[in-house]
Amino acid sequence: MQSQTYNYKVVRQFAIMTVVWGIVGMLVGVIVAAQLVWPELNFAEWLHFGRLRPLHTNAVIFAFGGCALFSTSYYVVQRTCHTRLFAPGLAAFTFWGWQLVILLAVITLPLGFTSGKEYAELEWPIDILITVVWVSYAVVFFGTIATRKTTHIYVANWFYGAFILTVALLHLVNSAEIPVSLTKSYSAYAGVQDAMIQWWYGHNAVGFFLTAGFLGMMYYFVPKQAGRPVYSYRLSVVHFWALIFTYMWAGPHHLHYTALPDWTQSVGMVFSLILLAPSWGGMINGIMTLSGAWHKLRTDPILKFLVTSLSFYGMSTFEGPMMSIKTVNALSHYTDWTVGHVHSGALGWVAMVSIGAMYYLIPRMYGKTEMYSTKLITTHFWIATIGIVLYIASLWISGVMQGLMWRATNPDGTLTYSFVESVKASYPFWTIRVVGGVLFLTGMLIMFYNMVKTISGQKAYDAPVLAPAGAHA
Ligand code: HEM
Ligand code: HEM
Repeated sequence: MQSQTYNYKVVRQFAIMTVVWGIVGMLVGVIVAAQLVWPELNFAEWLHFGRLRPLHTNAVIFAFGGCALFSTSYYVVQRTCHTRLFAPGLAAFTFWGWQLVILLAVITLPLGFTSGKEYAELEWPIDILITVVWVSYAVVFFGTIATRKTTHIYVANWFYGAFILTVALLHLVNSAEIPVSLTKSYSAYAGVQDAMIQWWYGHNAVGFFLTAGFLGMMYYFVPKQAGRPVYSYRLSVVHFWALIFTYMWAGPHHLHYTALPDWTQSVGMVFSLILLAPSWGGMINGIMTLSGAWHKLRTDPILKFLVTSLSFYGMSTFEGPMMSIKTVNALSHYTDWTVGHVHSGALGWVAMVSIGAMYYLIPRMYGKTEMYSTKLITTHFWIATIGIVLYIASLWISGVMQGLMWRATNPDGTLTYSFVESVKASYPFWTIRVVGGVLFLTGMLIMFYNMVKTISGQKAYDAPVLAPAGAHA
């Protein structure tokens, strides 16, 4: 009993695949960014922008982000519950099952098999596989909580738990479809209901897949790396309930000025504005955790990643509510502004917090306390930060420019600019985006090298399970 160890194998496997899929997904991101600048790059049917774009979003969200969430949640739940993972066979199945889902996405999306629903493009047989893997994930995670040796359930687990439950619900409802062949299905919903369900899903995919799970990560790894307790545990509980309640209602902001009833759009807008409060509550809680440890930021690049991710989280959750205001959305919708907003959340928040957490985890999975090179982590941090700034600043400019060009009219009421003129004017900014993307990808390659050097020649290491105590591991 005393010599029992944590199950780190599955944590290690997911951690390594986080870096690998991060590189693949971001490489595809760089390719689609380049295709917008140099259309000649669309030379093969299965390599077209329209096929690769969903491959990019699936690879970065579900493969890179998903592996980071699996890895860290399995680590955190064991450490904070002072027990091994429940049902280790099932945990191993979630690893191989999830990799199979990703592999099938990599094959089917370029071939053009798609349900046509954004972030839920995969066809019905893969949807079923996702359901099986996800239910297994829930059994492992909640089984571990149920068999915990501590009385308390640490707040990070609340966020991971909400993420697992909600994603199950979203996936099941939004993927209800009628198969017509092995590779084609049609949504069970029609018209505006279909759109509403899709964006209820889409927005909560942001709220739960891209936010709640990563907040779980934040609540464990920021205090750990800073060596300080969470700034306010009470605030973290308020943060949790306020965030999960509010997110559910904000989806209609994706459907402003559509056939959706106007009152529904207004509900979406109001809840999006309210969402600023819990989002910032969480961000402040994370950043203030550094109270008394600010000096560590000067020398600790992992902390730099974690704290910068929180700053981008704060920025994108301020920008989002502003974009949900109908009059602002009238300008921003359909433009690059949205894509810039997405990436300040996706690169700034999701990728940076995951990278920080991986730099913490990877050496510990091999019995070491540090990565091979701290200097390379610092280099990664600066390259990535410059890359993000180039990406989002260029798209703010092109987004606002596009919106203004599309609405400009001459005194006689005709449009001042044709659409293609706005495309032409966007080229310089899209080129800067490619540069930003290449920088961010380069950072990931440096991380890969650092990871290989850290683990090569080292034996996999499973730490002994801590004796149950009041303190969190
Ligand atoms: C090297 C890094 C990256 C580059 C160069 C990149 C590039 C791109 C490009 C060119 C698009 C299509 C934009 C358009 O249609 O106009 C896109 C879309 C998207 N990317 Fe990325 N991306 C990167 C990283 C990421 C990461 C890490 C995530 C998520 C964690 C992400 C999530 C998304 C999403 C959700 C969309 C769809 C946006 C929308 O529909 O508005 N990207 N990306
Ligand atoms: C308080 C929080 C947030 C609010 C209220 C919010 C609001 C919005 C709004 C109004 C749009 C534009 C909809 C449109 O015109 O089509 C949008 C798009 C988007 N946001 Fe956010 N946002 C928030 C945080 C985030 C974060 C943290 C992320 C990423 C981690 C994110 C990812 C996205 C994505 C992926 C889209 C594009 C969806 C699409 O059209 O494909 N958002 N958000």
